[in-house]
Amino acid sequence: MDSNQRKKSQKTWYLTTPIYYPSDKLHVGHAYTTVAADALVRFHRLYGDGVFFVTGTDEHGQKIAQKASEAGKTPKEFVDGIVQFIQDPLWKTLGISYDRFIRTTDQEHTRVVQNVFEQLLERGDIYKGTYEGWYCLPDETFWTESKLIDGNCPDCGRPVERVQQESYFFKMSRYQDRMIQYILTHPDFIQPTSRRNEMLSFLESGLEDLSISRTGLTWGIPVPHDPAHVIYVWFDALLNYLTAADYLEAPEKFARTWPPDVQLVGKEIVRFHTIIWPIILMALQLPLPERVFGHGWLLIGDTKMSKSRGNAVDPIALTQKYGVDAVRYYLLREVPFGADGSYTEEALRLRINVDLANDLGNLLSRTTAMINRFSAGYIPFPHSVPREPDQVLPKLVVEIYDAVDHAMQQLLISDALSHIFRLIHAANKYIEDRAPWNLAKNPATKDELDHVLYNLAESLRIVSVLLTPFLIETPQKIRQQLGLTTPVRSYREAIFGQLQGGEHIKRGDALFPRLDLHGEQHEAAGGMEPSTEAVKTTPSSPNPPRPEEATNPITIDDFQKIDLRVGTIRHAEVVPSADRLLKLTVFDGIRDRTIVSGIRAHYDPEKLVGQQVVLVANLKPVKLRGILSEGMLLAGSQGGRLSLVTPLSELPEGARVK
Ligand code: MSP
Repeated sequence: MDSNQRKKSQKTWYLTTPIYYPSDKLHVGHAYTTVAADALVRFHRLYGDGVFFVTGTDEHGQKIAQKASEAGKTPKEFVDGIVQFIQDPLWKTLGISYDRFIRTTDQEHTRVVQNVFEQLLERGDIYKGTYEGWYCLPDETFWTESKLIDGNCPDCGRPVERVQQESYFFKMSRYQDRMIQYILTHPDFIQPTSRRNEMLSFLESGLEDLSISRTGLTWGIPVPHDPAHVIYVWFDALLNYLTAADYLEAPEKFARTWPPDVQLVGKEIVRFHTIIWPIILMALQLPLPERVFGHGWLLIGDTKMSKSRGNAVDPIALTQKYGVDAVRYYLLREVPFGADGSYTEEALRLRINVDLANDLGNLLSRTTAMINRFSAGYIPFPHSVPREPDQVLPKLVVEIYDAVDHAMQQLLISDALSHIFRLIHAANKYIEDRAPWNLAKNPATKDELDHVLYNLAESLRIVSVLLTPFLIETPQKIRQQLGLTTPVRSYREAIFGQLQGGEHIKRGDALFPRLDLHGEQHEAAGGMEPSTEAVKTTPSSPNPPRPEEATNPITIDDFQKIDLRVGTIRHAEVVPSADRLLKLTVFDGIRDRTIVSGIRAHYDPEKLVGQQVVLVANLKPVKLRGILSEGMLLAGSQGGRLSLVTPLSELPEGARVK
């Protein structure tokens, strides 16, 4: 999509996160959804769209009541404490810029839930009957026999209990065909497509009426005129999206805001949001959300990060250790939104070193150092006619402007960031290609030098604009160093050529200090104390993995097929377009070979020059990022540590290793 043609509408762009259970402190998995939502709304705000961003807490139900009684508190006292913590320090620390924080214990919400209940009762969409079946307490969900898997809850796999009680039912069965039709005719409604297909087959297997009231429980919203029943927590919770948009309180505002443009939910609650929720809206004759996006989970090893599994990581501790922008960057960049992804602290540290410190931080410090040295600390005016190589960055910016916009429209947040880093890589490469230090040697190339320095400063200014939705502090830090005093206000500032020239730069601290990847390897950041009933299984940051017994024996003949030789590294440089690669020139006694190696996060290229290494000399050459790599270096690695293998004492190059 060409963003210049994107239509502005009068409608407020409305985005929601799920409302979280305040049954425990939230962990990095919850922060993941909320940070993603925050980046999306910040992007839309920057674009000039009117935005409404809602998050909040889901406070009723048996599970919360039980937790409160274990803590010796009333449910309200119990949730008040946790909700306070979620608002501040949690969301405040992570820079979550919500417009409304909705609590299901808000008076206004009670009015909405009771109003909806009465409307549906009147229309015959709710009726009273008897419920008999299976109940999953942790999920607060009823199941019929046929839906159980091995006798357990099909959502969470935990045991269910047999129950029988009088209940109000929501006549979902009435809407089965309309719902199927709706999904078929609205291909964007459920994303990603895999979740859409799952929901279609769930619907096609038959839709039963849903029990939406409970007796014997007082912590909930009472059914109007029948207070022995409280309304089922999921029915209550889903309606938060109506309350937050002022469904009853301010009809004009509601008309401008409704329906939600994007609802982000974790994959395990897609069913609630794409079947029960839209059917409630159909029954109320209200428009359905434009898109419900079911994202994947953050995993520790193979299991979901969760407080009850005892493997939860505390986002605040992580932020204190690494800074808010590093944590946000990692969450937004590491896992493509939609897929499951592993959380490891090592991967976070790598992202900090490679992307933030090396690529972005170095670009800023090299650029400002050169402006200091070659232009007396002032950003030059671009006064030469741009040569071909000086047009590369302006052209790339035009492409990236649209690519980032397009990715964000598709909710491909990680892709958007990788486009921005393409610009950063290209600017680093531009420094190497244009070698300003050579241009500075000759007064005849002063104009060219000025142009190169301007292009670099301008690219960094554009990076500061593009990064604004994702990072909280960094864009402003970049701008300060460039001598810019205004904050970023519009996405349109990401157009090349707006930097005036003549700004006095102010060099500052490194944007992201490099971490010693080996030093603190085993220190855990941010484990959360397990809750009282939690079974503590895995520590929050993994211990170094235990070595495993060697399997798959080979013969000496097999081994001798590998031609290992000693070589010396003569030259090393980063591969600008690749996160983790170094391009090395290794002398093997006969000739210089080019070897591309994924060790960039572990070694500064300069420090490798002159080191002896062991290489696999008869490995078939392969092209990596367009570079022909003629061999492989031996390296040992475990638990995120890596070391090249080197002879104990110097050997002539070409010596065989056996
Ligand atoms: N209260 C309900 C939602 C009601 S919405 C009307 C609920 N709450 S929750 O606190 O259990 O989960 C809220 C969200 O956090 C869910 O979308 C869930 O997928 C997400 N996550 C919880 N753990 C997570 C990970 N480990 N990884 C990614 N998201 C995770 O469900």
